[in-house]
Amino acid sequence: MAKGSKRVLPKVFVATSAIHGDGLFAGERIRKSRRIIEYKGEKIPAGEGATRSRGGEELTYIFNLSDKYDVDGSLNGNEARFANHSCDGNAYADIINNRIWFIAERDIGEGEEITFDYRLQGDEVYPCVCGTEECRGYMNDADDEVVQETLGDAR
Ligand SMILES: C[S@@+](CC[C@H](N)C(=O)[O-])C[C@H]1O[C@@H](n2cnc3c(N)ncnc32)[C@H](O)[C@@H]1O
Ligand SMILES: [Zn+2]
Repeated sequence: MAKGSKRVLPKVFVATSAIHGDGLFAGERIRKSRRIIEYKGEKIPAGEGATRSRGGEELTYIFNLSDKYDVDGSLNGNEARFANHSCDGNAYADIINNRIWFIAERDIGEGEEITFDYRLQGDEVYPCVCGTEECRGYMNDADDEVVQETLGDAR
């Protein structure tokens, strides 16, 4: 890209989601492989992020950037922090020049919710309600130790 020119990103908006609370939606058709939005927030030491409580529920806006850092989308974040998890997401996160970007994994229609597979790692199993045929029942990475220990052969 030429120096000084600005990448044109697709329109997105935040609205009520069928999966959970608010979600991130496509404001126009987004072609496969297109950059959608940067996941903004404050860079914090990895593992130090807190969950935020809302109505008695714990929500996490922490995105793992590297071994050393996470990005906390609840601090100076943008609309990307509303992207919900799906076990069959239509986007994926990629780290480009030390910044987190959501990229379309397939063509996304106007008005479609933009989701990605959180593949969470952690101390507990986080149940998933994405409702897709691919739903594995939790938002953790399938190889996460806690999943192996907690669900074991029951998976
Ligand atoms: C980054 S927030 C996503 C935005 C959120 N829907 C809101 O209204 O603020 C992440 C939180 O949303 C919820 N969430 C997202 N996807 C989910 C899913 N597939 N199943 C269950 N909860 C989900 C979980 O509470 C998770 O900690
Ligand atoms: Zn699911």
